[in-house]
Amino acid sequence: MRYEEIPAPEPGDGDVLVRVTAAGICHTELHFLSGLLDLGVAPLTLGHEIVGRIERVGAGVDPRRTGERVVVYYYSGCGSCPSCLRGEENLCDALRAEHGFVTDGGFAEYVRAPARNAVPLPAGVGDAEAAPIGCAVTTAVHAVNLARVGLGDWVAVYGAGAVGFGLVQVARLRGARAIAIGRTPARLEAARALGADAVVRAGVEDVAARVREITGGRGADVVFELVATRETMDASARMLAKRGRLVFVGYSEDAFQIHPIQLVVGEQVVAASVGNTLAELRLAVELVAAGRVRTVVDRTLPLARFQEGIDALAAGGLVGRAVLAP
Ligand SMILES: NC(=O)c1ccc[n+]([C@@H]2O[C@H](COP(=O)([O-])OP(=O)(O)OC[C@H]3O[C@@H](n4cnc5c(N)ncnc54)[C@H](OP(=O)(O)O)[C@@H]3O)[C@@H](O)[C@H]2O)c1
Ligand SMILES: [Zn+2]
Ligand SMILES: [Zn+2]
Repeated sequence: MRYEEIPAPEPGDGDVLVRVTAAGICHTELHFLSGLLDLGVAPLTLGHEIVGRIERVGAGVDPRRTGERVVVYYYSGCGSCPSCLRGEENLCDALRAEHGFVTDGGFAEYVRAPARNAVPLPAGVGDAEAAPIGCAVTTAVHAVNLARVGLGDWVAVYGAGAVGFGLVQVARLRGARAIAIGRTPARLEAARALGADAVVRAGVEDVAARVREITGGRGADVVFELVATRETMDASARMLAKRGRLVFVGYSEDAFQIHPIQLVVGEQVVAASVGNTLAELRLAVELVAAGRVRTVVDRTLPLARFQEGIDALAAGGLVGRAVLAP
């Protein structure tokens, strides 16, 4: 990654120009930097957890929106494919933009986005505090919806990072009981403070056996995989209840392997969750504004010190997000 001066974008018809005030560093950034995730666009400004202030509006946009504080929805779908027609822009066949993925994102002073992607942010939520809403919280809302987490379910959250903190809280809002799994005590304590019903220390305890014990032998009705290494995927499969749903949110270099007989005898489902819809982002903003979901920000850094944030994330030294303040 390089820090450089580039021309500020101009808002086109229907766009807003957002002066970025906070941009969270997601673990996905590390997948871009390692080359595991390669969407074929370079150079590119990363950053998809974007908060800022509308500085200017393009033609056709209500000029009264100037000055509005917003969170940016990072997908911009074609509007006419079957997925878009269902409101599922995260699955669009012909994306117009995906900020921080294939379109310039929030690790910059300015980002240009369609006006409808600029979701108003209530005054009570601070800029840095709001940054993780744009991916971590809204990804959790989407994944919990997709897995149909319900009343009384046992939900294992494998990986107590920023998305995991969102999942623990959103799963509990659906009436489920959440088990956070991680290696670092400080992150597990944070998960507990956010409402986790139980925590399991990976690397010290047999994770799958411990989840079986906590759930009275039943196993987890839903496992959210945020790590997805060979070791964690094996444990995830072993902790899954009958009719359990193993949902991939995170990934690593490792491939997933399972014998179908295990799925067959328990009627288990393997699924995956990507991104979120605009409606889910709006809901995520409401949940944080109402104090029903809290975000966790480890530190805020000026844009020029982006590398410190990336390095701290890679080293496993953060509890929650590092947020850049351009
Ligand atoms: N599908 C989507 O839409 C979507 C959206 C956002 C993110 N993601 C992906 O989801 C994953 C998580 O993202 P994030 O931003 O939440 O990352 P993060 O903040 O770095 O959290 C990941 C957590 O996993 C834990 N972990 C790592 N290895 C572990 C192990 N062997 N056993 C147990 N826990 C382990 C780490 O805690 P300890 O070191 O304490 O164990 C870390 O806190 C990433 O792969 C990211 O790319 C996907
Ligand atoms: Zn992300
Ligand atoms: Zn589309």
